[in-house]
Amino acid sequence: MKLAATPHERTIDVDISSDAFWAKSFDERDESFARLRREAPVSWHPPTEFPFPHEETGFWAVVKNDDINTVSRQTQRFGSRFGVSLDPVPFDLAKAASFFLMMDAPEHARYRALVTAAFTRHQVRLIDEQIRSAAREIIDDLVGAGDVDFVEHCASRLPMRTIADMMGVPESERVAAALAGDAVIGRSDPSFGDPADPIGTITAAIDHLYKLGADLAHHRRAHPSDDLLTNLVNAEVDGQRLTDDDIGAFMVLFTVAGNDTTRNTTSLTTVAFDRNPDQRAYLLEDFDGRIMPAVEEFVRHGSPVMQFTRTALVDTELGGQRIAEGDKVCMFYCSGNRDESVFERPHDFDLSRPKNPHVGFGGGGPHFCIGAGLARSQLRALIGELLTRVPKIEVGEPEFAVGNFIRVVNHLPVHVP
Ligand code: HEM
Repeated sequence: MKLAATPHERTIDVDISSDAFWAKSFDERDESFARLRREAPVSWHPPTEFPFPHEETGFWAVVKNDDINTVSRQTQRFGSRFGVSLDPVPFDLAKAASFFLMMDAPEHARYRALVTAAFTRHQVRLIDEQIRSAAREIIDDLVGAGDVDFVEHCASRLPMRTIADMMGVPESERVAAALAGDAVIGRSDPSFGDPADPIGTITAAIDHLYKLGADLAHHRRAHPSDDLLTNLVNAEVDGQRLTDDDIGAFMVLFTVAGNDTTRNTTSLTTVAFDRNPDQRAYLLEDFDGRIMPAVEEFVRHGSPVMQFTRTALVDTELGGQRIAEGDKVCMFYCSGNRDESVFERPHDFDLSRPKNPHVGFGGGGPHFCIGAGLARSQLRALIGELLTRVPKIEVGEPEFAVGNFIRVVNHLPVHVP
């Protein structure tokens, strides 16, 4: 295979860096990704627009499903420890919000094993019961609500409640924790921090969640209960345990990773069912038999996490391109999930796909979404309640935020009879 003669040679006149590009609709953006998939599956682009000084020169865009799996799994070549965000976010700020997401082996494996050990079979069953009863309550409140914002009244409620239940967050702290979670991912309420100082606001929100997690862990050591937090403080792998500070960092990561992802999948799926009533009928014909593969299609079609990045740890090659050590490499899951060489009619919302090797939870390997099981349970419970108990919901036009990371539905007007 002929490699590009110099690093960064393979540029192409397709803009995927500007805010103007990320302000387009998902389908319009995919026209650009489709061209990259056809003509330049691995290509070099200038940095995204970022309002603070930085020294980054650009990034490699990886847009094919196969190549995304390669980057994600080959951790000797592509590492997470130098950062995983496409925007040139200052290293210390990114690190504070990312805990083991921004680590490589062996450190990553050690923390991941400790957290995994806390999810015992008993705990998973308990969390599942909490999710199902919370989903019922959320839909109880929604039925007959009239004209409301679906995001506020439904989609946003279950993810934060699940995390708060697992981490034993007291009722009195839940609203502040949810606001802090929003602020970390850059969507802050004016009541939380100074809108003129986004970095200060994000830092304050991270500190808030970190302290909350560490304080709760400290309390749990003395007052054990039957929750995930108790398991986290007691988890032991190869003689190592999590400290209160580790659990503070975990609280930040879980709030950031587990909140917006599921919330937006719920909103995007609600829109998809409204626009595809045949798929709604198909699922309801055999809900129990069809819901789990259907959830995979919710995640593929919605692609709520649009990308994560790695850094090349060595001089290497991908898709015929020479990639230099230190280069940023972005895996565009939103494009891998529309890859026509893997999915037939990739734009269709089709719950009956015989195979669905999507990359919505990541491209496999050690960082594959640790919350995938939780997300699947939440989507199954909430969408199930919604489809069966609110069959006549009228769904308006979603209002999207502009951004390149999470596909955020800010508002979704609905009428609930
Ligand atoms: C539909 C919902 C979700 C989607 C689409 C999603 C997507 C992802 C993706 C793409 C990654 C891979 C990151 C990488 O490779 O660098 C990831 C990792 C992660 N996710 Fe999720 N996620 C979802 C729900 C959740 C939930 C509910 C939680 C927890 C409450 C969670 C916690 C995490 C954590 C902690 C990681 C880091 C894993 C590691 O570095 O080992 N996610 N997620």
